[in-house]
Amino acid sequence: MPNFKTLDDLPQDLSGQRALVRVDLNLPMKDGRASDLTRVNVVAPTILELANRGAKVLLLAHYGRPKGDRHSTMSLSMVQGDLERVLDREIMFIPEVAGPVVTQSVDILGNGDIGLLENTRFWPGEEANDADFAKSIAAHGDIYVNDAFSAAHRAHATTEGLAKLLPAYAGRAMEAELKALDAALGTPKPPVAAVVGGAKVSTKLAVLENLSRKVQHLVIGGGMANTFLAANGVNVGKSLCEHDLTDTARTIMDAADEAGCTIHLPYDVVVATEFAPNPPSVRTCNVHEVAADEMILDIGPQATEALGDVLKTCATLVWNGPLGAFETPPFDEATVALARTAAALTQDGSLISVAGGGDTVAALTHAGVADDLTYISTAGGAFLEWMEGKELPGVAALSA
Ligand code: 3PG
Repeated sequence: MPNFKTLDDLPQDLSGQRALVRVDLNLPMKDGRASDLTRVNVVAPTILELANRGAKVLLLAHYGRPKGDRHSTMSLSMVQGDLERVLDREIMFIPEVAGPVVTQSVDILGNGDIGLLENTRFWPGEEANDADFAKSIAAHGDIYVNDAFSAAHRAHATTEGLAKLLPAYAGRAMEAELKALDAALGTPKPPVAAVVGGAKVSTKLAVLENLSRKVQHLVIGGGMANTFLAANGVNVGKSLCEHDLTDTARTIMDAADEAGCTIHLPYDVVVATEFAPNPPSVRTCNVHEVAADEMILDIGPQATEALGDVLKTCATLVWNGPLGAFETPPFDEATVALARTAAALTQDGSLISVAGGGDTVAALTHAGVADDLTYISTAGGAFLEWMEGKELPGVAALSA
């Protein structure tokens, strides 16, 4: 577990303290409006706690990838209203991140007030982690709080640089995330199962390599399972498969074997000749019976039941990626069934379950169990890099 300070390490009364708080407001947008406020809800407790303890709270965040230029369509002013509604507080939008405009605005803010600074990526110094840029922002704060785990894989001025310039603390969401992730892979209770799904092995090679050394059961699902099946000599027909990576898949399987990790691949699968909702050609068969014109689109019911039995023997589960093409019925069935088993075991108290990644959260929500696992991370890239075993710069800087 990284050794970091939290809001508990600060004096109770923060009156007069200027808190620069890094949050992740990279929200999904539709027609200029946020379509999902999960990330705002996640950071609300930290913002309100600091404000209620008397700090002047200055929110720092990025949106999109404006590459160091001002783009009116990426101004954080567009989330001011959503923040005000979720926090039930008035928020001052400040169209800069440093300089006299910020100084004057902070002077106007009273203790317990909240200001929202402009998109940090409008300035090239943010992504370059430029020391002078970080210093110019640090001049407006007495303390730095990072509550943006989902941006912690970026070594940017406001995710990493500021932590070196001001007394640095993890916010409540960051603290909860780091504790949950530590319980899942840092110092987990064995046996540990990992479920890794998704379309391509190539995007999750490092994840598979790292997990095969750390967990006792590695369940491979989604399109990437086809590459592993092909490496085992299975004819996967027209399935999504990276035939050029079968040697890599073999190497991962050998390494897992040596480390005492059992890799679980499906032995029955759901196939169809076309990828469409409920296609007439859909059928379930043994992996060795996939026809040349068929595609594997989900794990079969027998394999799903066997995976449920594996989870029953485990104390910890970490999950990233769906088992099948879950957005198109009936290829959601394995993901839904295994998610419900994981949720039931978690609720019974026999399993610590941590899941993360965009598709995974959508799949668990679709299965109706998003609230029944131990912890669900809203992070995408940061969650994957953590699963790869990488040190995240934003987290490392908090522990320095
Ligand atoms: C995210 O949405 O995953 C984070 O905000 C990081 O965004 P980025 O991939 O543009 O750095």
